Amino acid sequence: MKIVEQLKRPILEEMELFEEKFSSAMSSKVALLNRITHYIVNRKGKQMRPMFVFFAAKLVSEQQQVNERTYRAASVIELIHTATLIHDDVVDDSDRRRSFFSINALWKNKIAVLVGDYLLSKGLLLCIDHKDFDLLDIISKAVREMSEGELLQIEKARNLSIDEQTYYEVIRKKTASLIASCCALGASSVYGDEQQVNVLRTFGEYIGMAFQIKDDLFDYGTQKIGKPTGIDIKEQKMTLPLIYAFQQSNQRERRWIKTTIKKHHKNRKRVRELIEYVKEKGGLSYAVEQMHAYRDRALTLIEPFPDSPTKDSLTRMVAYVIDRNY
Ligand code: IPE
Ligand code: IPE
Ligand code: MG
Ligand code: MG
Repeated sequence: MKIVEQLKRPILEEMELFEEKFSSAMSSKVALLNRITHYIVNRKGKQMRPMFVFFAAKLVSEQQQVNERTYRAASVIELIHTATLIHDDVVDDSDRRRSFFSINALWKNKIAVLVGDYLLSKGLLLCIDHKDFDLLDIISKAVREMSEGELLQIEKARNLSIDEQTYYEVIRKKTASLIASCCALGASSVYGDEQQVNVLRTFGEYIGMAFQIKDDLFDYGTQKIGKPTGIDIKEQKMTLPLIYAFQQSNQRERRWIKTTIKKHHKNRKRVRELIEYVKEKGGLSYAVEQMHAYRDRALTLIEPFPDSPTKDSLTRMVAYVIDRNY
């Protein structure tokens, strides 16, 4: 069994009910849209974000119980996540997602953009229809941050100037903010107090940072992860391994790196050389170190909660973020 399926075991009932609710939250009377949402539901991802919602809710709730609000939070999160992936594949011009064709590859950009918007609106409406304004507040801020993060990344890629701090800002916004909201939403859904919501939000943020560093490491690997690898340099995206290698380089090497990204980013041989260079300079091990540092900061935050099966599950989830192989 896949590790992620094992991690779901303590919340199996919740996840099954969630899947039903998630799928019906997407339905539409427009036939084309329905075809596409069916396609999406049949190619689910790891569903780590809803899992974080449920575990965070259980950690905070006195009887370790979730409620209808928790289910809505989980659905909203997965709707928004799905919308951003669909848009991201347009932005990154990527033709694979979850081991199959991306929406833009099958239906073209126009349709992918509109389907992403549709899912985003469905997510927000789910909160509005039930007057979950506290949840709406959390999720809307994440949506804002994610768009800012993606745009900041493009802005930096354009002038090839990104330092480590900017990288962290990009990934905090584009990825960590949503995982932070998962944990905040879970806690808020069961009426956790402000301090609990904030601790869990920060916990999620650190996990999210580790999560994206891991994702960026995949791009330097050769593992099959269900989406293209080796495309970041092609897209002129400078991630942590490359940033570190650049910092460690002398003037001549730096010039070579810059011209590679600027002028030869579509030249496969040259990109392969740059990837090798990053490895030699220790870029990957440095990124792994930073990823571990974020993991440790996350674990420290849940340490004070009394021991419980839910706390164990969350701890295992944190480990999985780093050890996962897709
Ligand atoms: C991919 O997220 C997008 C990133 C933030 C790197 P996941 O790896 O959680 O995607 P799925 O939902 O499992 O496909
Ligand atoms: C993550 O960006 C997706 C979002 C946060 C919207 P990436 O472009 O790095 O993620 P993948 O590798 O395509 O999933
Ligand atoms: Mg992207
Ligand atoms: Mg992408």
